[in-house]
Amino acid sequence: MYTSVALTLALAAITPAVLAQTVSGEAPGFAAGTTGGAAGETVTPTTTDELVSYLESEDALTIVLNQEFDFTGTEGTTTETGCAPWGTAAGCQLAINANDWCGDNPAAEVTYDVAGTTAINVGSDKSIIGVGDAGVIKGKGLRFVNSVSNVIIQNIHITDLNPEYVWGGDAITLDGSSNIWIDHVKISLIGRQFIVSGYETNTAISITNSEFDGQTSWSASCDGNHYWGLFFIGEGDQITFKGNYIHHTSGRSPKVGGNALFHAVNNYWADNSGHAFEGEEAYILLEGSTFDNVTNPAQDFAASLYAPSSSDSACTDALGRACAANVLTDSGTLEGTDSSVLSQFSGLTIADADADASAVPGSAGVGKLSSSSSSKKEKTRKRSARKVHQPRRLWAGAEEEDVVAF
Ligand SMILES: *[C@@H]1O[C@H](CO)[C@@H](O)[C@H](O)[C@H]1NC(C)=O
Repeated sequence: MYTSVALTLALAAITPAVLAQTVSGEAPGFAAGTTGGAAGETVTPTTTDELVSYLESEDALTIVLNQEFDFTGTEGTTTETGCAPWGTAAGCQLAINANDWCGDNPAAEVTYDVAGTTAINVGSDKSIIGVGDAGVIKGKGLRFVNSVSNVIIQNIHITDLNPEYVWGGDAITLDGSSNIWIDHVKISLIGRQFIVSGYETNTAISITNSEFDGQTSWSASCDGNHYWGLFFIGEGDQITFKGNYIHHTSGRSPKVGGNALFHAVNNYWADNSGHAFEGEEAYILLEGSTFDNVTNPAQDFAASLYAPSSSDSACTDALGRACAANVLTDSGTLEGTDSSVLSQFSGLTIADADADASAVPGSAGVGKLSSSSSSKKEKTRKRSARKVHQPRRLWAGAEEEDVVAF
C-alpha cells in the first residue's frame, strides 16, 4: 500500500505537464466545435519575443505556457499629463488621457508602462494553454480582431496591466472574431476591462470557468473594487458566459449592448459594491446563477432580460430544457421577466445548466483544471483516453479519490 501510494504521488508530480499539452474538455454553448491549434504543432515559448511570434503566427499551433511572461518594461514607460476624475486620494484610480478622454477633469501626472496599453494580435487556429498555475502573461493583453477565428485560451492568468490607470490596458479584446473559447482563465489587476468586445460582431464566443478578480488598490470607486469589468458591445455579439466567478467589482460586470445575445448560466457574482449588469439593446438569458453580496445585480439597465427566480419551463420550447433558477443572497433585487428573449436563442447551441452555481468559486480560474472537470463529456473523454495513452492512464490513477484514500 505504502509503495503504491508513493508511486502514485511521484507519477502525479511528473504527469501534469503531459496532461496540460492538450486542451481539456470541449467548449459548451456558442463556441462548440472550436478546435484551436489541435491540427498543428505544440510549442513551448521561453521568452516574451517567442511568445509573441507564436501568437501572431498564421500556423495552427498549441502554445504551452509553463512560466510567467513579463512584458512590463519591454516597451519602456511614459510620463505625461492625465487626470484625476475621482480625486488623488489613495485608493482612487487616475486616468491616462487616451483619446482625450480626460475632458475637463482635474489634471494629474501619470507614469505608466507602455506595454500594457497595446495588446498582442493573436492569429487564427491557436490553443494557448497553461501548465498547472504557471502560465502567466504579465503586463500585456490579447486581441482577437479582423476575422480571427478558432482560438482556445485555457488555464492562464493575465495580470498587471497598469491597474493604477483607466486606459492602462484591457486583458482580452474581441473585435470581429469567431469561435473563441476562453476557459479557466484568471484576470486580475488591469487598468481597464477584463474582457471587451466591439464594435465589430463577435460570434460563437464561449467564456467559461474563468475568474474575474477585481481586488485592487486603485479603483474608480475608490473602494478596493475594480469598476471596469466586462464590456460587450459588438454589434450582434453571441456570447455564452458559463461557470464564471466575478468578484470584488463595482460596475460593468458586465455591461452589454449592441443587440448582443448573451447567455449567462451558472455564474457566481460576489462582493460587488456597485452593479453587475448594465446596458441596453441586448437579449440576455440569465439562469442558474448566484448573486452573493452584490449591491445592485442590475443598474442603468434597459436590456431584454429573462432571469427566472424559480426553475420553470418557459425555456423548454426555445432551449429544449427548463431554465435553472437564479439565487440572490444579501443582494439587491433583479427583475427579469421578458420571456420573449428566449426565441432569440432558437437554433443556436445552448450550454447545459447545472441546478445552481454553488461550486463555481472553487472551480473557476487558473490552476483548477483537475478539480473542475465535472462535465460528463470530459469524464467520458478521459476514460476513453486511459486505454490508449499511458501517461494519462497514470494520471487518472492519481485522481482525487486515491489521494484522499491515502
Ligand atoms: C460584501 O462586499 C463588499 C464589497 O466588496 C465587501 O467590502 C464586504 O466585506 C462584503 N461583505 C461580506 C460579508 O463579505
